[in-house]
Amino acid sequence: MNDLSNPGINSQLGIEWPKNMNEVPKEVFVRTDLFDVEQKRIFRGPEWHAVAHVGELPERGDFKTYTLSNVPLLIVHGHDGEHRVFYNACSHRSNQLETASFGNKTEFECPYHRWLFNPEGELIGCPNSKEYSPGFKQEDYPLGQPRVDSFYGLIFITMHDDTPPLTEWLGEVKPTLIKALGDDGRLRLLGYQKVSYKSNWKGYNDNDGYHAPLLHTAFTLLNWQGGDGRQYMDMARGHLGFEAELKRVPRSELIQDHSLVDFIGDEANMGSRLIQLFPTLVITRHLNVYNIRFAIASGPEETEVHYAYFCHEDDDEEMVKHRIRQSSNLLGPCGMVSMEDASIFHRIHIGSNTPGNAIFQKGVKSFDKLEAEIKQNDETGNLARWEYYRKVMGFERALA
Ligand code: FES
Ligand SMILES: [Fe+2]
Repeated sequence: MNDLSNPGINSQLGIEWPKNMNEVPKEVFVRTDLFDVEQKRIFRGPEWHAVAHVGELPERGDFKTYTLSNVPLLIVHGHDGEHRVFYNACSHRSNQLETASFGNKTEFECPYHRWLFNPEGELIGCPNSKEYSPGFKQEDYPLGQPRVDSFYGLIFITMHDDTPPLTEWLGEVKPTLIKALGDDGRLRLLGYQKVSYKSNWKGYNDNDGYHAPLLHTAFTLLNWQGGDGRQYMDMARGHLGFEAELKRVPRSELIQDHSLVDFIGDEANMGSRLIQLFPTLVITRHLNVYNIRFAIASGPEETEVHYAYFCHEDDDEEMVKHRIRQSSNLLGPCGMVSMEDASIFHRIHIGSNTPGNAIFQKGVKSFDKLEAEIKQNDETGNLARWEYYRKVMGFERALA
């Protein structure tokens, strides 16, 4: 278990955290030796990690493969209707079982020695088993499984025994998460965009926030103003919730098809909600876009993000078309109002090789205390996550 009461345990890594709570040592973005420690303490540690939403696997036999901390996973909608997560490795000699990103199968055959598994993970065939070791029983060799739980259709796994129950781990941010998952979790996949950013996972995670009106040129060009809003943190686990009203975008000749920024539906829902769950998950519901961003820390200098776009199960055909049009065109990696993000993730990574600390400014009222609730455009929403990271990694804060 992560021993948060013993912050000096990783002092051998030689990082002394700055005294002021609004500062982060730049070296944590670029030190490659931290990556393995993060895998152990965070990605294989006592945290939950979302690996799929059931809306990606609507039919029985649907599957998706995913990777967490180099561990290959196979998520399958069983013929009994249940969604399961397996280790994507044959229970014989651990050959990677499935290589496709997604698909539909009635059985999974390992190409090495032809062991055969059903979508429920049971071993249903193995050639020459009469010659196997004494007492061999087929039923003793199902596919291995990590611990699994789900919340409004979002499937989480953990590879650590001490992870608290999922609803406890989600903490304060559950109300916004429910809204972001369509109020009832009944989402259906529209499609993916997959992108690899040249950035450490923390750089990706740290730069997806309040910057929209400053960084994203389209916001200014469209004269797109926000309304009231707030950010709130789960201090125990470093999660962030964000909710804001959105004003309608004024008509402009800049957009020929104004439906890109139109909202269809009940005015009360015309807002922006964003959830960041420690360590890497981002989920947003913005206008009519439902987007889950599964981020994989694939190396110290690379973060792979799978942008999954959804509609609601009750949508009519017109609404589905509208969501498809709006989804990736607005907020995806090359979306009209977010396309500058990739460049910033990369340039932050390059710049972080210089000495010193990254210093948060907007909204900072104290150097030694964090607020759980702050204004929507403050930078301080990231600080609870950094404080949690610091504790989990065992970095001591300097006294002076
Ligand atoms: S490793 Fe899969 S059948 Fe042998
Ligand atoms: Fe952005």
